[in-house]
Amino acid sequence: MPVTRTQVGIVGAGPAGLMLGHLLHLRGIDSVIVENRSREHVIDRVRAGVLEQGTVDLMTAAGVAQRLHREGMRHGGIGIAFGGNRHRIALAELTAGRAITIYGQNEVVKDLIDARLETGRPVYFEVDRVGVHDLTTAQPKLRFHHGGDAHEVTCDVVAGCDGFHGICRTAIPATHLRVYERDYPFGWLGVLASAPPTSDELVYSLHDRGFALFSMRSPSITRLYLQCAPDENAEDWSDDRIWAELTARLSTSDGWAPAVGPILQKGVTGMRSFVAEPMRYGRLFLAGDAAHIVPPTGAKGLNLAMADVYRLAEAIAEHSTSVREDALDAYSDRGLRRTWRAQRFSWWMTSMLHRSESDNAFDRRRQLAELDYLVGSRAAMTSLAENYVGVPFD
Ligand code: APR
Ligand code: PHB
Repeated sequence: MPVTRTQVGIVGAGPAGLMLGHLLHLRGIDSVIVENRSREHVIDRVRAGVLEQGTVDLMTAAGVAQRLHREGMRHGGIGIAFGGNRHRIALAELTAGRAITIYGQNEVVKDLIDARLETGRPVYFEVDRVGVHDLTTAQPKLRFHHGGDAHEVTCDVVAGCDGFHGICRTAIPATHLRVYERDYPFGWLGVLASAPPTSDELVYSLHDRGFALFSMRSPSITRLYLQCAPDENAEDWSDDRIWAELTARLSTSDGWAPAVGPILQKGVTGMRSFVAEPMRYGRLFLAGDAAHIVPPTGAKGLNLAMADVYRLAEAIAEHSTSVREDALDAYSDRGLRRTWRAQRFSWWMTSMLHRSESDNAFDRRRQLAELDYLVGSRAAMTSLAENYVGVPFD
């Protein structure tokens, strides 16, 4: 079995693992990335698409934002619709110019894979039997099979960037991990449609029939979501049924409605809040979905992953030059603070905008009162805006 050495062994080539590899590369730090899916699968996976200001700034500083600046759609506001009316929350005006940029997560991943390949540093796709070992020693190990051959990589640090279903978190003994979670009694049916966006900005809507979200990917592609049952089969939703429901839930009294067009792709995702504490075990550090999941309503998943790897890259760089452990020691606590802030925000957005079977008539009126207060109060809108655009990375 070939035994090689690297400074950082990275499990997972999603946005977290790839961005970490790139930030380390910029610091002259070597890494090996292993990914169990194919490169095509990782690039084609349709996911969320809202980048916080901090994510855009990080990608720009890291030199991987050329296409993002060309094709990304910068939005200075979002719409909130309820009771048949649409209201605007002026994100940029309320946050001294911070904004969000719409750019699909799969485009981010594509750009980061291109950047990785350009560096010539290793990234192995379609690996299997990935394992992490000797985590509480100074020489943790990554083992995997690639093309039928067994590999072992000795590392200084292992980064668990392998998403919620990965192996890194589960390699931590249960006695060292505390888990907090909440499942929601609904899911999102997400569709990608060949239809020009009829609004320049996203619209989040609460309707008697449930939540709906209007988003986009380009001047000719709309991205839309509908609240549905968590175990619903997307194939039970015909194009006609999808458009009838979207039109009913999104149309507002000012005459606005989404444009109808051919549906290119559809799928159902469940919604959960999840936090694993701490984000470290010995020399294993968890980042992104491996450590925490947020419901998509606040658009925080990808951005939390980016904030994690920014912090982790800084901490590893400090450790590699000074052998100081302070930043590595602070990694988890600092990350959990940001994570819990995003958890609160995502839970709040989710509960404000979804219909729940267990809600009674009082809950529904309270929900409408919350929305009414939100769009009528500059203080309330500012609170939403500063969380939505994201606090600067630290
Ligand atoms: N070995 C190697 N790779 C693995 C393994 C494993 N055992 N298990 C999972 N992976 C890979 C997955 O195939 C995936 O490509 O790890 C990667 C994890 O990527 P993501 O799930 O995208 O997670 P992350 O990089 O943390 O990105 C954050 O933001 O919008 C949210 O949930 C969304 O994916 C998104 C996330
Ligand atoms: C998306 O465009 O995919 C999107 C936008 C906002 C969200 C979630 C997803 O809250």
